[in-house]
Amino acid sequence: MSSLRPTGMLNILWFSAPTSFPHQCFLGPGQPCDCLSPLRAAAEQLRQKDLRISQLQADLRRPPPAPAQPPEPEALPTIYVVTPTYARLVQKAELVRLSQTLSLVPRLHWLLVEDAEGPTPLVSGLLAASGLLFTHLVVLTPKAQRLREGEPGWVRPRGVEQRNKALDWLRGRGGAVAGKKDPPPPGTQAVVYFADDDNTYSRELFEEMRWTHGVSVWPVGLVGGLRFEGPQVQDGRVVGFHTAWEPNRPFPVDMAGFAVALPLLLAKPSAQFDATAPRGHLESSLLSHLVDPKDLEPRAANCTRVLVWHTRTEKPKMKQEEQLQRQGQGSDPAVEV
Ligand SMILES: *[C@@H]1O[C@H](CO)[C@@H](O)[C@H](O)[C@H]1NC(C)=O
Repeated sequence: MSSLRPTGMLNILWFSAPTSFPHQCFLGPGQPCDCLSPLRAAAEQLRQKDLRISQLQADLRRPPPAPAQPPEPEALPTIYVVTPTYARLVQKAELVRLSQTLSLVPRLHWLLVEDAEGPTPLVSGLLAASGLLFTHLVVLTPKAQRLREGEPGWVRPRGVEQRNKALDWLRGRGGAVAGKKDPPPPGTQAVVYFADDDNTYSRELFEEMRWTHGVSVWPVGLVGGLRFEGPQVQDGRVVGFHTAWEPNRPFPVDMAGFAVALPLLLAKPSAQFDATAPRGHLESSLLSHLVDPKDLEPRAANCTRVLVWHTRTEKPKMKQEEQLQRQGQGSDPAVEV
C-alpha cells in the first residue's frame, strides 16, 4: 500500500464504499490541496454503482420468469385424423408408430375408430397414454360386410363403417366412448384426413393439407403396383391422374391421398363412404359428393413430392407360439403386445 501514489487513494475508495470522505487530500507529505469536488464526483459515481449493484442483487433474488410457453397456435386450422383400426397381432405396434408420428403435429385431433363390439383395453390404454387430443369411437362392421376367412383383403373395402362413424361424430351425431366428446363447434376451421394405421406419414404432409379449402390431393408412394400414384398437375391445376389401374374411376386416388375441409363435409351432410362401392371406388363414393375433379387442390409441390407411403406390415408368423401354447407354455397372455 505504501507504494501507492496519491491517485491510488481514489482507486481504493472505489472498492471500499466509505461512508464519509476526508475534506482534504494530499499530493504528498505536507502539501495540502482542496480536492473536495473530485472526491464528491467520485462519491457520486460510487453511489451510482452501489445502486446498480443492489438492483442487480435484487434481480438475482427474484425467481426466474416462468419458462416461455410455446405459443398455442390458435389460428391454425385443426387437422382431424380419422383412423379405423381392428384387433390383430400388429395392432399395438402400428398404433404406437402412428400416434408418435401424430405427436409431432400441432393442432391435431385423432379420431380413432375401433372395429369392435366395445372399446378394448389395448386401444383405450394407448389413447390415454398418447398425450394426443383424441376421440375414441367404436363400431362393429356388420357380419355381411366382414372379410371371410381366406378372402383376399381387397375383395371388401375395410374400415367403411368406422370412417362413416367418424363423419357422424364430426356432424354432431355423437357416439364417442372416450376422449373429447363434443363435436367441433359451428364455424370451426378444420380439415379431415383418413389415415389408416399401417401407412407411413411424413410430418410435412400435415402442413401441406392444413390449409385446404375444399379437397386437397397429393401423390401416395408404393401403391397400385407403382412407385407412386398421384394427380397430374399443369399450371397449378389437376388435369389427370398417374395410375395404372382403372384410370377411368372418377377419382383414382388412394384413401391416404386427399383431405377434405370440414365446412365442406358439414355442408354436404349425406356425403359418406359407400360400403357397396365396387373395388377401388370407395374414395370416389365420398369425393363425388364433394368436388369436381378439376377443382382438386394440388399440394406437395404441385404433386411432385411423396410424403405418404402405402406400407404394409407383414403378418408375424406364430409357429413357435402355437407350439408352446399346445404344451401350455405360451407367452404370458397378461403381457400386452
Ligand atoms: C405450382 O405450379 C404453379 C403454376 O405453374 C406455380 O405458380 C406454383 O409456384 C407451383 N407451386 C409449387 C409449390 O411449386
